[in-house]
Amino acid sequence: MIEDGPVYRNPTQPVARRVEDLLTRMTPAEKIGQLNQVFVVPENREQITELIRQGGVGSRIIATSHLAGSTEQQAAEVEDLNDLQRIAVEETRLGIPLIHGRDIIHGHRTVFPIPLALAAMFDEALVEEAFAVAAREAASAGVHWSFAPMLDIARDPRWGRVVEGFGEDPYLASRLAIAAVHGFQGDDPAAPDRVLACAKHYVGYGAAEGGRDYNTAEISDTTLRNVYLAPFRAAVDAGVGSVMSAFHDLNGEPATGSFYLLTEILKHELGFQGFVVSDWASVAELVNHRVAADRCDAARIALMAGVDMDMVCGCFQEHLAGLLERGAIDAARLDDAVRRVLGAKFRLGLFERPYTDPQAGARVRFAPEHRALARRIAARAAVLLENRGLLPLTKEARRIAVIGPLAQERRALLGSWVLDGIIAETQTLVEAVAEVCPQAEILSASRALSDEMLMRAAEADVVILAVGESDARNGEYNNVAELRLPAGQDELIEAVAGLEKPFIVVVLSGRPVVLNRAARQASALLWAWHPGSMGAAGIADVLFGDAEPGGRLPLTFPRSTGHVPIHYNHRSTGRPAMSRYHDMPATPLYRFGSGLGYTTFTFSDIVVSAATIAADGHLTVSALVTNTGLRAGETVAQCYVRDDVASITRPVRELKGFARVALAPGESRRVAFDLGPAELGFYGRHGRWRVEPGTFTVWVGADSSANLEARFTVAL
Ligand code: BGC
Repeated sequence: MIEDGPVYRNPTQPVARRVEDLLTRMTPAEKIGQLNQVFVVPENREQITELIRQGGVGSRIIATSHLAGSTEQQAAEVEDLNDLQRIAVEETRLGIPLIHGRDIIHGHRTVFPIPLALAAMFDEALVEEAFAVAAREAASAGVHWSFAPMLDIARDPRWGRVVEGFGEDPYLASRLAIAAVHGFQGDDPAAPDRVLACAKHYVGYGAAEGGRDYNTAEISDTTLRNVYLAPFRAAVDAGVGSVMSAFHDLNGEPATGSFYLLTEILKHELGFQGFVVSDWASVAELVNHRVAADRCDAARIALMAGVDMDMVCGCFQEHLAGLLERGAIDAARLDDAVRRVLGAKFRLGLFERPYTDPQAGARVRFAPEHRALARRIAARAAVLLENRGLLPLTKEARRIAVIGPLAQERRALLGSWVLDGIIAETQTLVEAVAEVCPQAEILSASRALSDEMLMRAAEADVVILAVGESDARNGEYNNVAELRLPAGQDELIEAVAGLEKPFIVVVLSGRPVVLNRAARQASALLWAWHPGSMGAAGIADVLFGDAEPGGRLPLTFPRSTGHVPIHYNHRSTGRPAMSRYHDMPATPLYRFGSGLGYTTFTFSDIVVSAATIAADGHLTVSALVTNTGLRAGETVAQCYVRDDVASITRPVRELKGFARVALAPGESRRVAFDLGPAELGFYGRHGRWRVEPGTFTVWVGADSSANLEARFTVAL
């Protein structure tokens, strides 16, 4: 039967042939329809249904407002998705299925810690597993395509969306980008438990001036290539199916209207074969940027720049036909956009499997093994910044006060981009501590900052004080001018410190916050982020030693807001000692890569396998790691490299390798890192990749201040 049908319907045919076959059958209107993404709410449902029937819709975003991540969103029922899909598949001339997209940012029904926390694990395998679980749950709910991973490098944590990315380092972000893409797409995105990934927000969106979301960014071409593009390049090489063009203006061109960024760099230089979707209405916003006179002009500019699908604003749908007739857009460009979108639909197997089984979700969502993984990840992402011998707590019977504005909180544990997690399923820290340590008497107090809290603290033997940000204080458009805890929390920490009892400050936050002296001098300080559905249990596991705090900072913590932008991999300067402040040290409060465990490690005996290598050669740098403490534990061995003299100013050091090393007390192991052109080269003048001859310094250690060093030479 199949052999007799059209080529595009035949799954044994290669995707490229199916695409060409289908394309030749399509009218201009049908082509344009494929580039139109819509959202469906009760008010527009009838109209959208009709548009689908006419072939005017290519994709549906499962969202009900433009602030999907910052407002409550209703989940679309699978039946509802199937209903509109049925119209596309059975009632249109060519039967092209819709692709359903949704923001699956850090989990679906099982919510994992925020992406910034996932980065803190320095653990690609677990990041991949988390995204694979998110894919499985999302796919069971009818989602074909996730608008993640978010790959924006961010050096200014005032910017609320720092929560969604992998931090400040291009190397760490690149390795995790690959893990996330594999987690979502697997080897074959057509598998029923996989979804298409989307690398966003292309590009430089994290460099918003003043840390204000959507704001202008200025990034030099070398910094763009060496820093901001790096994770996108990695995602493209890993086969990411789509890329989202960002909202902002970069160097005088809105990203959504930039031929240079979308076509010259992304499609030509990086060789991206998938499709570009705009961000929500960012095509229409070209008018606000004043580079387009009106919506028609915006449609023309965006399509010709390289946007393949218009997210929800309707500019493509309204204007591309007229533009085509007038010859104002290129028919070949239109075909290219359609090819890219159709290619993704074929690769996802949507022609063969357009519908979702409404029963599928019940089998996988919030499954026990997903919850166990989320719990493990919450502990591994938590960063222990101070410990004056108090942690881990013993489980003996005593009075433990679990207080603070976030001690009884559920929603804030989930984090900012949570569309499908269930608040009621999320334990509070009070509940989790009681469960993990049933012998103890738990003293708690109401949420408001109150005398009652201090009374409970005064009665206790040890105090766990949960402070931090609500989920609504970071995320899209939620920026802060001051990196401080919300009102009253600094005073609360000081008041608890005044009791002179052992106390642990647990901070739940989506960004670094400048902490007062009382917090830094607490018996212990644990940075637990927004840790997800199982976050409270994961934190309790860490507090009582059932798990080690596994996280290391994926971005620099500043001493004050005035220190930002601050990042460890800054370039070498002419007068480093004099580049300082009068009122504070210029150094970070907590360094990139730092974090404590429950045992101690030393690094020694660094060895490079060759004194000299060719520019295309490789060498191994290794060092001996020893667990010098009394407990088994894990460290993150980190390898940093500096090109000692280069043709352009290069960073003082850059992360080029990391590995988690688990050792028994007294045990040693040699950890090795491979260094080759990818680690030693950089984009120089005119965007050219080069490995330059000369000496390189390499360090191996436990954070970005590692000082165990060696040298080698790249020969002429
Ligand atoms: C955000 C994107 C998101 C999109 C769809 C936009 O406001 O910037 O990150 O994927 O909405 O919800």
